[in-house]
Amino acid sequence: MSKVKTSHVCSECGTHHPKWTGQCTGCGEWNTLTEEVISTGLAADTSSPNAPRPASSDARPPVALNDTSTETGSARATGIAELDHVLSGGLVEGSVTLLGGEPGIGKSTLLLQVAHKWDGPVLYVCAEESAQQVRQRAERLGAIRPDVWLLAEHGLGEIADAIDSTQPSLIVVDSIQMISDPVVTSAPGSVAQVRATAQFLVNLAKRRSIPLVLVGHVTKEGDLAGPRVLEHLVDTVLSFEGDRHHSLRLVRAVKHRFGSTNELSVFEMTGDGLTGVADPSQLLLADRKDQIPGSAVVPTLEGRRPLIVEIQALTSVAPPGVPARRTAQGIDQSRLAMLLAVLARHCGVPTSATDVYASAVGGVRIAEPGIDLALSLAIASSIVDRPLPPDLAVFGEVGLGSEVRQVAQPDRRFAEAHRLGFKRVLAPLRSPDPIDNIELIRVSDVGEALRAAGLT
Ligand code: TYD
Ligand code: MG
Repeated sequence: MSKVKTSHVCSECGTHHPKWTGQCTGCGEWNTLTEEVISTGLAADTSSPNAPRPASSDARPPVALNDTSTETGSARATGIAELDHVLSGGLVEGSVTLLGGEPGIGKSTLLLQVAHKWDGPVLYVCAEESAQQVRQRAERLGAIRPDVWLLAEHGLGEIADAIDSTQPSLIVVDSIQMISDPVVTSAPGSVAQVRATAQFLVNLAKRRSIPLVLVGHVTKEGDLAGPRVLEHLVDTVLSFEGDRHHSLRLVRAVKHRFGSTNELSVFEMTGDGLTGVADPSQLLLADRKDQIPGSAVVPTLEGRRPLIVEIQALTSVAPPGVPARRTAQGIDQSRLAMLLAVLARHCGVPTSATDVYASAVGGVRIAEPGIDLALSLAIASSIVDRPLPPDLAVFGEVGLGSEVRQVAQPDRRFAEAHRLGFKRVLAPLRSPDPIDNIELIRVSDVGEALRAAGLT
């Protein structure tokens, strides 16, 4: 008699639970558990620890380590220089790349541009849109060429057949959450489906040595929807970021088996699709007004690429009896809370009954601690209602004791500040001597930085 055994799996972190509960004990998220069939009883005899396991028909024998070639397959340029930059050269044969981003950010646009520039046949599985819609977008982008094959299907079988008939040298699946495996009963986009379909496609790409790009949706918190297991299955995870209402788009490598994960590519969304931005700092500072309180400029570092970003803070007195509001855009919320506490405890800046809105301008998201000092100064500047000197750039990490700590590659930060016309830089005490034409103001703690910037 067949017995169906099920488990409840968290769609955020993949933790298994024997029973359904409202909150996942693995990640603390609510309402993320979905039911999944784990065995049907038919397989019960083979699940014994001693039962033999059949090898797959295309299994490879073991190879000696010293006889193993070091070649991983060469990266093939996509033809989009900015994208090749973040991929350390391009797409490697048989590699699987997951491109994650919020809806409407430009994933399909970018991949259609890649399909257009790619040298060879491309199979584009457009599971979210009809072929007509994709064709319309391609016309708008001027991205039409004969050897791009559109497949508006959701099934794994159809995709495998289309690979046989079109013999592509690049496969794009847009998006993995829409694909379904007929042998899995759960709905498309569920944990079980995403895992099964991704596993199947990854195996297919590896066996045939064809680079595969999967599009993945992200939740509003910025995590890839579906279990973490998707990230483990692929070789590269690219995250497509930006604010839909701004034109700037950042592509970061979150995981990359064939190169550095520190690289960053910057695009601008224009009427003709995405174009690489050679000088993002210039673009980010374009609308800056330097005489307003609550603005500080920081040379941040994304991999080896410096980026000048304006940090803004707006503060106002919170109504009595109402907890103060704190919102952060493009900045870590807990970092903001910590810096507000440091300002209150160590620097005498009254932040406790103050509403604070802080943001990194231009829709960029900055995770590196080098922005701490700039954020602290922007908040203080708004509270005392006095602007920072217009020719001043600021960087440094702030510790819990209000000390200003050194961050990576100060030289590159100085050079970028200088290039954009800043004359003075507030930086940690142990900073090396800067290049010519930059006046360096070394500070050991936030209080000193506030005085140096004329805020106290
Ligand atoms: P899209 O690639 O469909 O996003 P995703 O696949 O990530 O959901 O991009 C959609 C947005 O991009 C849409 O709001 C229109 C805009 N867009 C442009 O601004 N210029 C263009 O040339 C194209 C094709 C789209
Ligand atoms: Mg899309």
